[in-house]
Amino acid sequence: MCRYIFEQENIIMSNRKSLHGNWSSRTAFILAVTGSAVGLGNIWKFPYITGENGGGAFVLVYLVCVFAVGLPILMSEILMGRRGRRNPVKTMELLGEEEGNSKHWKWLGLWGIVAGFLILSFYSVIAGWALAYVFKSGSGALAGVSAETISSTFGAHLGDWKSLLFWHTFFMLVTAFIVGRGVQRGLEKAVQFLMPALFILLLVLLLYSMNTGHFMDGVKYLFEPDFDKLSPNSWIIAMGHAFFTLSVGMGAIMAYGAYLPQDTSIGTTAVAVVFADTLIALLAGLVIFPIVIANGLDGGSGPGLIFETLPVAFSQMPFGTLFATLFFILLSFAALTSAIGLIEPALAWIIESFKWSRIKAAAVASIIVWVLGLGTVFSFNLWSGEEYQFFGKTVFDNIDYFASNIMLPLGGMFISIFAGWVMCRVSTSDELGFGTDWRYTSWVWLSRIVAPLAVLFVMLAKFGVIKP
Ligand code: PFF
Repeated sequence: MCRYIFEQENIIMSNRKSLHGNWSSRTAFILAVTGSAVGLGNIWKFPYITGENGGGAFVLVYLVCVFAVGLPILMSEILMGRRGRRNPVKTMELLGEEEGNSKHWKWLGLWGIVAGFLILSFYSVIAGWALAYVFKSGSGALAGVSAETISSTFGAHLGDWKSLLFWHTFFMLVTAFIVGRGVQRGLEKAVQFLMPALFILLLVLLLYSMNTGHFMDGVKYLFEPDFDKLSPNSWIIAMGHAFFTLSVGMGAIMAYGAYLPQDTSIGTTAVAVVFADTLIALLAGLVIFPIVIANGLDGGSGPGLIFETLPVAFSQMPFGTLFATLFFILLSFAALTSAIGLIEPALAWIIESFKWSRIKAAAVASIIVWVLGLGTVFSFNLWSGEEYQFFGKTVFDNIDYFASNIMLPLGGMFISIFAGWVMCRVSTSDELGFGTDWRYTSWVWLSRIVAPLAVLFVMLAKFGVIKP
């Protein structure tokens, strides 16, 4: 399909420059992409959707999706971003033309920007919960109380829409402030120290959960597959989450790739990010499920899971108040580094297309997201009743389901088709720097066949066209 005619050797290597500056080093890029990948998806979402979908078999499908589908797409997004060196919409347009195809590929970039807005609208509200819990645990209100009290505190928190609105607003303001300042200042420095701190705190929690007496039950729950518990919907949720957790399918990584120095190896970087992200999610699961089992809690209780289980652990450990406060601070930071990834493609697009200043672009984009977020704020209180639900789900559930499980996988599928089929091998192998060895061949076939077909099958199964 590739129709790019290389008339001169020297046009093979792209020599475009990013308009927004570059990452200062390869480490900075790895940290930024890891910062975008590791977030609420790993610590809040992964445990609760695993609980809702029966454990082991779900985790297995998720892991296969992460490595066979997510990883090659992550590499494709980085390579396309670096080759285009523009915002995702312009990059898709440029590459579409340059590779002898159509400039209409730009719509794929726009699709990603819409997905990012939708995801950030609820992401910010949940990040707000984490922020509220910094203060709830810091005040000692959750120390030494029973699991039931902790659970009813969470219920009361959700019912208080003014508080949810306040924290959602606060989180969006901080996000707007940071992205308004630019790529390098602040962001790079923050992730450098926050990511390792979050990891260490999870290890401390792991020690606690090992002492609950139910650690092995938790391990079994996470790793013993029982395929009877898997519905066609579970497949689509596992696949959607693989995209969500790696931040792929919407151009976030493409936007980050645009700032990546030319000599950095894309393969090694992508593998490092996928391992770090998977490790953190599995660690979170290993912390949560033994606590759930030991306290007779319900692992399938939905989005409140970590807010109802982790405070139980903290309330029983020495220095629990301190650790709890620290944990929710770090979780809020992890959410912030992801929120930045969710909004950066839109910002880069607005700045390049309308020549607005970064600050103005950040303000306008954040206001749009803030308004959309009201739907999620009210989903847990004023609009929780059936009369406000569509397809039997709240506004929050619908936005999450549609953006994460439909928009991201479809976006990822087309990104994969573009990198695998539309781009010339000479361009992709030049960008990946693998030559034509087995690593390149694996990437090509995963991108051409495995990733697109996997998404297609899961979608067809979801809509009942085929039976898994
Ligand atoms: N990967 C993030 C998480 O797991 O929390 C969510 C996310 C961030 C998705 C950035 C998409 C994105 F562009």
